[in-house]
Amino acid sequence: MCDTCGGHGPTAAHHDHAGHHAHGAGARLVVVGKGGVGKSTVTALLARLSARRGLRVVAVDADEQQNLAATLGIGWEEAAGIVPVAADADYVEEKTGARPGEGAGAMLRLNPDTADIVERRAVLGPDGVRLLVMGGVRQAGGGCLCPETALIQAAVAGMHLHPEDVVLMDTHAGVEHFGRSLARGFDAAVVVVDPTFNAVQVGRESSVLADGLGIGTVHLVVNRARSQADVDRALAHMDRLGGFPFASTTVLPFDEVALECEPAVDRLLEDSALAGAVAALSQELLSEVSGPVGVGA
Ligand SMILES: Nc1ncnc2c1ncn2[C@@H]1O[C@H](COP(=O)(O)OP(=O)(O)OP(=O)(O)O)[C@@H](O)[C@H]1O
Ligand SMILES: [Mg+2]
Repeated sequence: MCDTCGGHGPTAAHHDHAGHHAHGAGARLVVVGKGGVGKSTVTALLARLSARRGLRVVAVDADEQQNLAATLGIGWEEAAGIVPVAADADYVEEKTGARPGEGAGAMLRLNPDTADIVERRAVLGPDGVRLLVMGGVRQAGGGCLCPETALIQAAVAGMHLHPEDVVLMDTHAGVEHFGRSLARGFDAAVVVVDPTFNAVQVGRESSVLADGLGIGTVHLVVNRARSQADVDRALAHMDRLGGFPFASTTVLPFDEVALECEPAVDRLLEDSALAGAVAALSQELLSEVSGPVGVGA
């Protein structure tokens, strides 16, 4: 049972605690998919290429493994020193009224004001990409709200956005984050699959869940394609599983350079087939977010 509200629902989505949507302008995209399909690589490339196109990018690492910093090209020592939002006890308490690890009592603010989260908690990465590392929560599953979860759930929907701001959120593998309603308030989901049945199955399940959360636009990315046959196989798996009305389908090629230079995407950005294809993806996904780069914060 949820200590906070007494509810029994399997997911916080059913409780609807953190349901405010301080929608500003800009675009919020969440990247989802099975483990190892390339979510972090795609998120990091999209972030840096979109920033190079003049968009103001906030990359959000919602994976407890916290490897988006290194993927973005932030140096190992600096990345290791980042204090995730969930571990910043003072910030969590300021916003929710309770410290991480404290029993959720009547005083827990379930609708924390997170408008300042980028300004206060983001670190500056290459190409001006601002990175927010959310960090892990102690509670496994359940959907009950501890202070960290309440804060993280409100964080993205509540952050203040400028018209040319783009939020790109990298997630934990699989579909569990949807259970925590992390992606609520997002405009679009980018579902990454590789050409395997299991990845396509998780991809389709993620798409259906995104739709159920009210994310109206779901894009499909077939990553690591070595040939047209790979693409055809992935799409045939998708069809066999029932299909999904994707807003777009983008193929990203298998690229040896990704493995040679991982975790950082810097060398891919110099000149690679993969970065070229992700640049086109950035145009496809973010064509409506444009205009002059804003001045000031
Ligand atoms: N198009 C590609 N061609 C070749 N290798 C790739 C490609 N995309 C990603 N990779 C490699 O695949 C591995 C997994 O990628 P990545 O870490 O981005 O996946 P992920 O979905 O974020 O994984 P996790 O679920 O563990 O977070 C990395 O070594 C990455 O360099
Ligand atoms: Mg990852």
